[in-house]
Amino acid sequence: MNFQQVFGTEPEVEASAPGRVNLLGEHTDYNDGFVLPTAIPQKTTVQLGFSKDEQHHFYSAELDEKVDVLESTHTPSSFASYVFGCIRLLEQEGNTIPPVNVYVTSSVPIGSGLSSSAALEVATLRGLRSLLSLTLDDVQIAQLAQQAEIHYAGVQCGIMDQMASSLADTDSMLFLDTRTLERQVLPFPKGAEVVVIDSGVPRTLAASGYNQRRADCEEAARLLGVKALRDITEPQAVESLPEPLRRRALHVVTEDNRVLEAIQGVSPERFGELMNASHASLRDAYEVSVPALDTLVRMLQETRGVFGARLTGAGFGGACVALVEVGKAEAIAQNVLQRYNGSGYTGRILVQ
Ligand code: GLA
Repeated sequence: MNFQQVFGTEPEVEASAPGRVNLLGEHTDYNDGFVLPTAIPQKTTVQLGFSKDEQHHFYSAELDEKVDVLESTHTPSSFASYVFGCIRLLEQEGNTIPPVNVYVTSSVPIGSGLSSSAALEVATLRGLRSLLSLTLDDVQIAQLAQQAEIHYAGVQCGIMDQMASSLADTDSMLFLDTRTLERQVLPFPKGAEVVVIDSGVPRTLAASGYNQRRADCEEAARLLGVKALRDITEPQAVESLPEPLRRRALHVVTEDNRVLEAIQGVSPERFGELMNASHASLRDAYEVSVPALDTLVRMLQETRGVFGARLTGAGFGGACVALVEVGKAEAIAQNVLQRYNGSGYTGRILVQ
């Protein structure tokens, strides 16, 4: 069904936003640290028009689900909570939002750690900006989208995903200082490109495990007497912390340092080593990997033409990212996937 078939009118505006894959800088954004994502080709598109009645009407083509929302009702669930969250936040900022029809379609895989929710939030806000001629820049859109995620989806996330969806493109890396929001658009390491493979393991524990890691980091920063772990630059400085806070903080401090090295224009070989070290740290110190991700990452790392590989996103399941020699992405992805699925998993190639 298209917009016309669902709502009986033509849409007034259309807007899109991509998913993202993070190359380095995992679990650093809520520590005021550094991240290095890029956009992926898959995106979410929304079409919007004015509703003919008092209600908002949202439709997801992928879920074939229609949700009607009266302004006064409780927050809806599923995809509609993100759309409604964006509307609510714009209202809280003093904007008047009339009842709207929103048609959502998306090619961003859900549950793989590629920010399908950020893509939906950013696309929705872009659509509302254009429908209602709102004065909002791309950073403000990312900030509102992050608030929608925190307040309407219940994940105490940082700002990486929404900034990446709002500002990154597929041809470069977006270096972001999540404290100041200063950023640089950087080329990929010379002669390298990105492969993303989903492990096939859903991110079941992600929300609770994520919020727990965040609380651990805040406690570690408090004990060290700093505003956030970003303020620690020497790994030795965390040695006095009790476990597991020492391990958590060690990951964050070393991960920030890896990002800061990676943006100095290092060779693809060095960039790959930094990715491998990031995975080891996420597995052993931050403890957000699972056996399937470790298996997939190891298979990627052992394959010729792969500079480095790691889990990407929050962890607990989802996807792995690899940096590979230009021109070899497809062959490498097929080869690794065949071996990985041969050991009983149901992985799939997402970007090659
Ligand atoms: C999720 C969050 C981000 C970030 C990553 C981990 O994607 O939404 O803010 O914390 O996990 O790096």
